Amino acid sequence: MAGAAPPRINVENYRFLQQHVYANSGIVLETDKHYLFESRLTPLVRQMNLGSINDLCALLRATRDGEMGRKVVEAMTTNETYFFRDPAQYEAIRKVFLPRLKQERADTKRLRVWSAAASSGQEAYSLAILLLEEGLGDWNVQILGTDYSSGMVERARQAKFQQIEVNRGLPAALLIKHFRRTGMEWHLCEDARRMARFETMDLRSSMRALGPFDLVFCRNVLIYFDRETKAKILKEIHGALYRGGWLLLGGAETAFGIEERFDRDNPGNVTVYVAR
Ligand SMILES: C[S@@+](CC[C@H](N)C(=O)[O-])C[C@H]1O[C@@H](n2cnc3c(N)ncnc32)[C@H](O)[C@@H]1O
Repeated sequence: MAGAAPPRINVENYRFLQQHVYANSGIVLETDKHYLFESRLTPLVRQMNLGSINDLCALLRATRDGEMGRKVVEAMTTNETYFFRDPAQYEAIRKVFLPRLKQERADTKRLRVWSAAASSGQEAYSLAILLLEEGLGDWNVQILGTDYSSGMVERARQAKFQQIEVNRGLPAALLIKHFRRTGMEWHLCEDARRMARFETMDLRSSMRALGPFDLVFCRNVLIYFDRETKAKILKEIHGALYRGGWLLLGGAETAFGIEERFDRDNPGNVTVYVAR
């Protein structure tokens, strides 16, 4: 017989969780996201042998355990990603960005890219594969992937993907060429893997010292923040880009009206923010 349903998060704890997640990551969770807290935090509650999310909140309040607090925030991050997400952006990189770069950097053959909010690495590795396909295998390419979630960073570093993950967005020819099948997993080849490294990082921290970058992906993460946090992040990204460097955002995101030191360009019908 199924047990009684666990008690719902009470109003006070709901507010506590909202504030905890906001204070520690900038992620805004609205007041009608009960199901989200419940589905994301229940595994943690079970793992800790607690009775309910209310118990988790009580423990977090009482102990102020930083590690537990971090796990709660990580559980609330949305890590959805896939290879070559927004293909038109990769086409713009291939057709417009790389030809220009090849001319400008013919002497140094150096390229620095930042995948901010990298999740499990598909964004960074899609670019690495594209660069190999476009003949930049002998370049000094550094792709930095950062994410709040240490679990995601660890996964990205492994560069091992399940069948269901390589089925999303990755053309079969590129899968065969750049991955090796080992058991149930696909391992990315070393040529692409060595171009990228991954670190945990909160996007709200100061990021200028990471730069300068030629290209920054900051996709499908600004949507979770309020205007003030978006403005702070976009300002930092601007400071971390070379003049003329590109910023690519997710389809539902814009820098327009928030950070004015970007010019908007439209190569191949894709919106690109060019640092002034
Ligand atoms: C939806 S994924 C986007 C992944 C990838 N950029 C893409 O578009 O496919 C959003 C990622 O942002 C990360 N994130 C959320 N808040 C963050 C913060 N304050 N600092 C750094 N990363 C954060 C999450 O952990 C998650 O992996």
